Amino acid sequence: METRRILGIETSCDETAAAVVADGRHILSNVVASQVELHAQYGGVFPEMASRAHIEMILPVIQEAMRQAHLGWDDLDVVAVTYGPGLVGSLLVGVNTAKGVALGRNLPLVAVNHLEAHIYAHWLATGFTGAAPADLSFPLLALIASGGHTELILVRGHGDYDCLGGTLDDAAGEALDKVGRLLGLEYPGGPAIERIAREGNPQAIPIPRAWLEGSYDFSFSGIKTAVAQLVQKRGGPPTGRAAADLAASFQEAVGDVLTAKAAAAAEEHQVAAILLSGGVSANQRLRNLAQERASVPVYYPPPILCTDNAAMVAACGYFRYLAGERAGWDLDVVPNLRLA
Ligand code: KG4
Ligand code: ZN
Repeated sequence: METRRILGIETSCDETAAAVVADGRHILSNVVASQVELHAQYGGVFPEMASRAHIEMILPVIQEAMRQAHLGWDDLDVVAVTYGPGLVGSLLVGVNTAKGVALGRNLPLVAVNHLEAHIYAHWLATGFTGAAPADLSFPLLALIASGGHTELILVRGHGDYDCLGGTLDDAAGEALDKVGRLLGLEYPGGPAIERIAREGNPQAIPIPRAWLEGSYDFSFSGIKTAVAQLVQKRGGPPTGRAAADLAASFQEAVGDVLTAKAAAAAEEHQVAAILLSGGVSANQRLRNLAQERASVPVYYPPPILCTDNAAMVAACGYFRYLAGERAGWDLDVVPNLRLA
């Protein structure tokens, strides 16, 4: 089959990203301009500033992706762009830029669901130890845990999904980010908590889990509140060993619930493998817990492909393109877009 080179564009939150991927698998370039420093002073993403930073960065990022791929505009076959879920102003920048490129070069435009793209990070060839093999067979179970989402998805085939459960309140990453702030750590909280948790005892502090028995739904606001009360009781954020113990105990509670439910769903639906996806799946403790508990292989992409990037958008766009999907020039963004 003829090679298809896809330009992927991603601007759903606070990373401006562009990538070129061949046949949904081979990364020719993958450029991410993070706005983390811009938003760090607010302890979270400031939507209007995110849109404005995307406006400034999107064309330089695309040009850099084309340069690193050693390609000219005539070498592209498809443009794929995230149209939701995400921040409306941020999504608009990516979608309009993608329309401009597709119109200008007379290329097909494919609209990509950001959640689905996180799953397709597993189709990218990386040579990474935890990465999925090229011949993944269905059904699969995807755990998407990021700053905005926590979902357990049964993947029956390409583009064929069943949402088994999701968070009823905070996303896992959101809870980590909020607890990071309570502990006085830098933004984003997830990687910062993981770093200090390495020196802590995950059993040191009892953190209550919300099991929501009999469902694959999650709730993280209660454990976040438990940490807030602990911090308040001691009159401020702990430091040193006490901070490490609290971070380790909280990280353990989040990982415990996520992986117990993922392992149970994998068992019930007899899947071939579990795909850890989204920014929180960069967490090594989560990866280890999932591997300990699941009776099927657990795969995870390298960290750069767990957090938001455009290579996953291009990979997903390739499979949507093969399925015959094309977006019209009237493509709009869908901030609350769901999967399945
Ligand atoms: O997928 P992502 O980049 O953006 C969204 O689509 O939301 O996920 C970002 C989230 C943040 O909440 C961040 O704290 C979390 O992923 N995260 C981590 C780690 N790296 C990023 N959480 C735990 N451990 C990490 N190593
Ligand atoms: Zn994401």
